[in-house]
Amino acid sequence: MTMADAESVQAGGATPLLDVRNLVVRYGKRGPAAVDDVSFTIMRGETLGLVGESGSGKTTIGRAILGLQAVTSGEIWFEGKNITRASVAERRSLQGDMRAVFQDPYSSLNPRRPIGDALTEPLRVARVPRADRDRRAEDALAAVGLPPGSAGRYPRQFSGGQRQRIAIARALVTDPRLVVCDEAVSALDLSTQAQVLNLLAELRAGADLGYLFIAHDMAVVEFLAQRVVVLNRGRIVEQGTTAEVLQNPQYHYTQVLMAASPVPDPDEQARRRDVWQALKATAPAA
Ligand SMILES: Nc1ncnc2c1ncn2[C@@H]1O[C@H](COP(=O)(O)OP(=O)(O)OP(=O)(O)O)[C@@H](O)[C@H]1O
Ligand SMILES: [Mg+2]
Repeated sequence: MTMADAESVQAGGATPLLDVRNLVVRYGKRGPAAVDDVSFTIMRGETLGLVGESGSGKTTIGRAILGLQAVTSGEIWFEGKNITRASVAERRSLQGDMRAVFQDPYSSLNPRRPIGDALTEPLRVARVPRADRDRRAEDALAAVGLPPGSAGRYPRQFSGGQRQRIAIARALVTDPRLVVCDEAVSALDLSTQAQVLNLLAELRAGADLGYLFIAHDMAVVEFLAQRVVVLNRGRIVEQGTTAEVLQNPQYHYTQVLMAASPVPDPDEQARRRDVWQALKATAPAA
Protein backbone atom coordinates (compact mmCIF):
# COMPACT_ATOMS: atom_id res chain seq x y z
CA MET A 1 0.00 0.00 0.00
CA THR A 2 1.41 3.39 -0.91
CA MET A 3 1.36 6.33 1.48
CA ALA A 4 -1.33 7.92 -0.70
CA ASP A 5 -3.52 4.82 -0.45
CA ALA A 6 -3.02 4.71 3.31
CA GLU A 7 -4.18 8.32 3.54
CA SER A 8 -7.27 7.77 1.48
CA VAL A 9 -8.18 4.76 3.62
CA GLN A 10 -7.66 6.92 6.69
CA ALA A 11 -9.98 9.53 5.24
CA GLY A 12 -12.74 6.94 5.06
CA GLY A 13 -11.78 5.66 1.63
CA ALA A 14 -13.16 8.73 -0.14
CA THR A 15 -11.74 9.24 -3.63
CA PRO A 16 -9.12 11.98 -3.55
CA LEU A 17 -9.68 15.05 -5.67
CA LEU A 18 -6.12 14.69 -6.90
CA ASP A 19 -3.91 11.65 -6.54
CA VAL A 20 -0.32 11.91 -7.73
CA ARG A 21 1.42 8.52 -7.73
CA ASN A 22 5.16 8.00 -8.08
CA LEU A 23 5.47 10.92 -10.47
CA VAL A 24 8.73 11.16 -12.40
CA VAL A 25 9.48 13.96 -14.87
CA ARG A 26 12.70 14.21 -16.87
CA TYR A 27 13.52 17.03 -19.23
CA GLY A 28 15.16 15.21 -22.11
CA LYS A 29 15.80 11.48 -22.36
CA ARG A 30 19.05 11.32 -20.43
CA GLY A 31 18.52 14.28 -18.11
CA PRO A 32 18.29 13.89 -14.34
CA ALA A 33 14.79 13.56 -12.88
CA ALA A 34 13.46 17.06 -12.15
CA VAL A 35 10.69 15.28 -10.23
CA ASP A 36 11.61 11.92 -8.74
CA ASP A 37 9.02 9.47 -7.40
CA VAL A 38 6.66 12.06 -5.91
CA SER A 39 3.33 10.89 -4.42
CA PHE A 40 0.65 12.91 -2.64
CA THR A 41 -3.11 13.39 -2.54
CA ILE A 42 -5.42 16.36 -2.21
CA MET A 43 -8.93 15.75 -0.88
CA ARG A 44 -11.95 17.84 -1.83
CA GLY A 45 -11.78 21.28 -0.30
CA GLU A 46 -8.25 20.72 0.98
CA THR A 47 -5.22 22.93 0.47
CA LEU A 48 -1.87 21.21 0.07
CA GLY A 49 1.23 23.37 0.29
CA LEU A 50 4.17 22.44 -1.91
CA VAL A 51 7.40 24.07 -0.78
CA GLY A 52 11.05 23.74 -1.64
CA GLU A 53 13.94 25.82 -2.76
CA SER A 54 14.42 27.11 -6.28
CA GLY A 55 14.80 24.29 -8.80
CA SER A 56 13.35 21.61 -6.49
CA GLY A 57 10.64 20.71 -9.03
CA LYS A 58 7.54 22.54 -7.73
CA THR A 59 6.53 24.18 -11.00
CA THR A 60 7.27 20.98 -12.91
CA ILE A 61 4.79 19.10 -10.70
CA GLY A 62 2.15 21.80 -11.17
CA ARG A 63 2.62 21.78 -14.94
CA ALA A 64 2.44 17.99 -15.10
CA ILE A 65 -0.88 18.07 -13.21
CA LEU A 66 -2.22 20.73 -15.58
CA GLY A 67 -1.15 18.71 -18.62
CA LEU A 68 1.42 21.32 -19.66
CA GLN A 69 4.38 19.00 -19.12
CA ALA A 70 4.78 15.39 -20.26
CA VAL A 71 5.08 12.78 -17.51
CA THR A 72 8.00 10.33 -17.73
CA SER A 73 6.44 7.76 -15.40
CA GLY A 74 3.94 7.50 -12.60
CA GLU A 75 0.29 8.48 -12.66
CA ILE A 76 -1.94 11.47 -12.04
CA TRP A 77 -5.57 10.82 -11.08
CA PHE A 78 -8.22 13.52 -10.89
CA GLU A 79 -11.61 12.76 -9.31
CA GLY A 80 -11.01 9.03 -9.77
CA LYS A 81 -9.89 9.25 -13.40
CA ASN A 82 -6.39 8.55 -14.66
CA ILE A 83 -5.44 11.71 -16.59
CA THR A 84 -1.71 11.01 -16.92
CA ARG A 85 -1.89 10.74 -20.68
CA ALA A 86 -5.22 12.47 -21.31
CA SER A 87 -5.87 13.39 -24.93
CA VAL A 88 -6.16 17.01 -26.03
CA ALA A 89 -9.95 16.63 -26.08
CA GLU A 90 -9.98 15.13 -22.58
CA ARG A 91 -7.73 17.90 -21.28
CA ARG A 92 -10.03 20.46 -22.82
CA SER A 93 -12.99 19.01 -21.00
CA LEU A 94 -10.99 19.21 -17.74
CA GLN A 95 -10.08 22.85 -18.22
CA GLY A 96 -13.06 24.17 -16.31
CA ASP A 97 -12.47 21.81 -13.37
CA MET A 98 -8.74 22.32 -12.95
CA ARG A 99 -7.42 25.86 -13.18
CA ALA A 100 -4.19 27.73 -12.50
CA VAL A 101 -2.96 31.01 -11.03
CA PHE A 102 0.65 31.90 -11.85
CA GLN A 103 3.06 34.46 -10.48
CA ASP A 104 2.88 36.98 -13.27
CA PRO A 105 -0.64 37.51 -14.58
CA TYR A 106 0.47 40.42 -16.73
CA SER A 107 2.25 38.12 -19.14
CA SER A 108 -0.88 36.03 -19.64
CA LEU A 109 -3.35 38.93 -20.04
CA ASN A 110 -3.64 40.28 -23.58
CA PRO A 111 -2.80 44.00 -23.32
CA ARG A 112 -5.12 44.81 -26.24
CA ARG A 113 -8.22 43.09 -24.89
CA PRO A 114 -10.43 44.21 -22.00
CA ILE A 115 -10.02 41.87 -19.07
CA GLY A 116 -13.62 40.68 -19.36
CA ASP A 117 -12.46 38.70 -22.41
CA ALA A 118 -9.92 36.81 -20.28
CA LEU A 119 -12.84 35.61 -18.15
CA THR A 120 -15.39 34.82 -20.84
CA GLU A 121 -12.89 32.77 -22.88
CA PRO A 122 -12.60 29.89 -20.35
CA LEU A 123 -16.41 29.94 -20.08
CA ARG A 124 -16.64 29.51 -23.84
CA VAL A 125 -14.23 26.58 -23.66
CA ALA A 126 -16.34 25.12 -20.84
CA ARG A 127 -19.39 25.45 -23.14
CA VAL A 128 -21.24 27.89 -20.91
CA PRO A 129 -24.01 29.48 -23.04
CA ARG A 130 -22.99 32.82 -24.50
CA ALA A 131 -25.89 34.61 -22.80
CA ASP A 132 -24.55 33.70 -19.34
CA ARG A 133 -20.87 34.46 -19.85
CA ASP A 134 -20.83 38.22 -19.24
CA ARG A 135 -22.79 37.91 -16.03
CA ARG A 136 -20.56 35.08 -14.78
CA ALA A 137 -17.48 37.21 -15.59
CA GLU A 138 -18.93 40.23 -13.74
CA ASP A 139 -19.79 38.04 -10.75
CA ALA A 140 -16.28 36.57 -10.60
CA LEU A 141 -14.68 40.02 -10.74
CA ALA A 142 -17.00 41.25 -7.99
CA ALA A 143 -16.15 38.17 -5.89
CA VAL A 144 -12.46 39.12 -5.88
CA GLY A 145 -13.30 42.70 -4.92
CA LEU A 146 -12.90 44.56 -8.20
CA PRO A 147 -15.23 47.50 -8.85
CA PRO A 148 -18.21 47.25 -11.23
CA GLY A 149 -17.23 48.05 -14.81
CA SER A 150 -13.81 46.38 -14.45
CA ALA A 151 -14.59 43.90 -17.23
CA GLY A 152 -14.38 46.66 -19.84
CA ARG A 153 -10.99 47.95 -18.70
CA TYR A 154 -7.53 46.93 -19.94
CA PRO A 155 -4.75 45.13 -18.02
CA ARG A 156 -2.53 48.24 -17.83
CA GLN A 157 -5.32 50.08 -15.98
CA PHE A 158 -4.90 47.81 -12.95
CA SER A 159 -2.27 47.55 -10.22
CA GLY A 160 -0.20 44.41 -9.68
CA GLY A 161 -2.43 43.30 -6.81
CA GLN A 162 -5.56 43.94 -8.86
CA ARG A 163 -4.13 41.96 -11.76
CA GLN A 164 -3.51 39.06 -9.40
CA ARG A 165 -7.17 39.32 -8.35
CA ILE A 166 -8.13 39.23 -12.03
CA ALA A 167 -6.04 36.06 -12.43
CA ILE A 168 -7.87 34.54 -9.47
CA ALA A 169 -11.24 35.57 -10.92
CA ARG A 170 -10.24 33.98 -14.20
CA ALA A 171 -9.32 30.77 -12.41
CA LEU A 172 -12.55 30.66 -10.42
CA VAL A 173 -15.01 31.78 -13.08
CA THR A 174 -15.61 28.20 -14.26
CA ASP A 175 -16.34 26.89 -10.72
CA PRO A 176 -13.29 24.60 -10.65
CA ARG A 177 -12.64 21.75 -8.19
CA LEU A 178 -8.88 22.30 -8.08
CA VAL A 179 -6.75 25.41 -8.50
CA VAL A 180 -2.97 25.14 -8.88
CA CYS A 181 -1.45 28.34 -7.48
CA ASP A 182 2.22 28.63 -8.47
CA GLU A 183 3.90 31.45 -6.53
CA ALA A 184 0.58 33.26 -6.86
CA VAL A 185 1.44 35.90 -4.26
CA SER A 186 5.24 35.93 -4.43
CA ALA A 187 5.53 39.06 -6.56
CA LEU A 188 3.20 41.13 -4.40
CA ASP A 189 4.19 43.52 -1.63
CA LEU A 190 3.43 42.21 1.83
CA SER A 191 0.13 43.95 2.54
CA THR A 192 -1.22 43.03 -0.89
CA GLN A 193 0.05 39.51 -0.32
CA ALA A 194 -1.96 39.37 2.90
CA GLN A 195 -5.10 40.61 1.13
CA VAL A 196 -4.79 38.10 -1.68
CA LEU A 197 -4.10 35.21 0.73
CA ASN A 198 -7.17 36.14 2.73
CA LEU A 199 -9.13 36.30 -0.50
CA LEU A 200 -7.99 32.80 -1.49
CA ALA A 201 -9.02 31.51 1.94
CA GLU A 202 -12.44 33.18 1.68
CA LEU A 203 -13.09 31.84 -1.80
CA ARG A 204 -12.25 28.34 -0.68
CA ALA A 205 -14.70 28.42 2.22
CA GLY A 206 -17.98 26.86 1.22
CA ALA A 207 -16.88 26.20 -2.36
CA ASP A 208 -15.35 22.79 -1.69
CA LEU A 209 -12.37 24.05 -3.62
CA GLY A 210 -9.00 22.30 -3.45
CA TYR A 211 -5.73 24.17 -3.88
CA LEU A 212 -2.26 22.97 -4.71
CA PHE A 213 -0.46 25.95 -3.28
CA ILE A 214 3.13 26.21 -4.50
CA ALA A 215 5.49 28.63 -2.78
CA HIS A 216 9.08 28.92 -1.66
CA ASP A 217 7.93 30.83 1.43
CA MET A 218 6.85 28.59 4.30
CA ALA A 219 5.04 31.46 6.07
CA VAL A 220 2.70 31.92 3.14
CA VAL A 221 2.03 28.19 2.96
CA GLU A 222 1.39 27.95 6.69
CA PHE A 223 -1.41 30.45 6.33
CA LEU A 224 -3.40 28.49 3.75
CA ALA A 225 -2.42 24.83 3.79
CA GLN A 226 -3.76 22.01 5.95
CA ARG A 227 -0.95 19.74 4.79
CA VAL A 228 2.50 20.40 3.41
CA VAL A 229 4.88 18.55 1.12
CA VAL A 230 8.53 19.62 1.23
CA LEU A 231 10.65 18.96 -1.85
CA ASN A 232 14.38 18.89 -2.26
CA ARG A 233 15.94 18.19 -5.64
CA GLY A 234 12.81 16.62 -7.00
CA ARG A 235 12.16 14.31 -4.07
CA ILE A 236 9.81 14.59 -1.11
CA VAL A 237 11.87 15.05 2.05
CA GLU A 238 8.97 15.74 4.39
CA GLN A 239 5.20 15.48 4.31
CA GLY A 240 2.52 15.95 6.95
CA THR A 241 -0.03 18.29 8.45
CA THR A 242 1.12 21.89 8.44
CA ALA A 243 1.33 21.85 12.23
CA GLU A 244 3.45 18.68 12.24
CA VAL A 245 5.84 19.96 9.64
CA LEU A 246 6.20 23.37 11.26
CA GLN A 247 6.39 22.22 14.86
CA ASN A 248 8.53 19.18 14.40
CA PRO A 249 10.77 19.56 11.42
CA GLN A 250 12.25 16.16 10.70
CA TYR A 251 14.88 17.53 8.42
CA HIS A 252 17.42 20.26 8.79
CA TYR A 253 16.42 21.31 5.31
CA THR A 254 12.89 22.25 6.40
CA GLN A 255 14.27 24.32 9.23
CA VAL A 256 16.47 26.16 6.80
CA LEU A 257 13.47 26.82 4.58
CA MET A 258 11.45 28.07 7.52
CA ALA A 259 14.16 30.40 8.67
CA ALA A 260 14.73 31.49 5.14
CA SER A 261 11.63 33.64 4.76
CA PRO A 262 13.68 34.91 1.92
CA VAL A 263 14.69 38.37 3.05
CA PRO A 264 18.25 39.06 4.11
CA ASP A 265 17.35 42.39 5.74
CA PRO A 266 16.50 42.02 9.47
CA ASP A 267 14.15 45.04 9.45
CA GLU A 268 12.29 43.58 6.53
CA GLN A 269 12.25 40.24 8.32
CA ALA A 270 10.67 41.86 11.37
CA ARG A 271 8.13 43.61 9.17
CA ARG A 272 7.25 40.30 7.52
CA ARG A 273 6.67 38.79 10.91
CA ASP A 274 4.30 41.65 11.83
CA VAL A 275 2.36 41.29 8.61
CA TRP A 276 2.27 37.58 9.17
CA GLN A 277 0.82 38.02 12.67
CA ALA A 278 -1.74 40.52 11.35
CA LEU A 279 -2.67 38.11 8.61
CA LYS A 280 -3.29 35.30 11.06
CA ALA A 281 -5.30 37.56 13.33
CA THR A 282 -7.67 38.70 10.57
CA ALA A 283 -8.01 35.39 8.77
CA PRO A 284 -11.24 33.47 8.41
CA ALA A 285 -10.88 29.98 9.93
CA ALA A 286 -9.12 27.69 7.47
N1 LIG B 1 11.90 23.45 -19.69
C1 LIG B 1 12.91 22.91 -19.00
N2 LIG B 1 13.93 22.28 -19.64
C2 LIG B 1 14.93 21.70 -18.95
N3 LIG B 1 15.02 21.71 -17.61
C3 LIG B 1 14.05 22.34 -16.93
C4 LIG B 1 12.95 22.97 -17.57
N4 LIG B 1 12.13 23.50 -16.63
C5 LIG B 1 12.70 23.22 -15.44
N5 LIG B 1 13.84 22.52 -15.61
C6 LIG B 1 14.71 22.01 -14.53
O1 LIG B 1 13.93 21.20 -13.68
C7 LIG B 1 14.25 21.42 -12.31
C8 LIG B 1 13.00 21.83 -11.55
O2 LIG B 1 12.56 23.09 -12.02
P1 LIG B 1 11.21 23.77 -11.53
O3 LIG B 1 10.95 24.95 -12.38
O4 LIG B 1 10.15 22.73 -11.45
O5 LIG B 1 11.62 24.21 -10.04
P2 LIG B 1 10.83 25.12 -8.98
O6 LIG B 1 10.85 24.35 -7.71
O7 LIG B 1 9.53 25.54 -9.53
O8 LIG B 1 11.82 26.37 -8.82
P3 LIG B 1 11.48 27.93 -8.52
O9 LIG B 1 11.24 28.02 -7.03
O10 LIG B 1 12.74 28.64 -8.92
O11 LIG B 1 10.30 28.32 -9.34
C9 LIG B 1 15.36 22.45 -12.30
O12 LIG B 1 16.58 21.76 -12.22
C10 LIG B 1 15.23 23.13 -13.64
O13 LIG B 1 16.46 23.60 -14.08
MG1 LIG C 1 8.71 27.43 -9.96
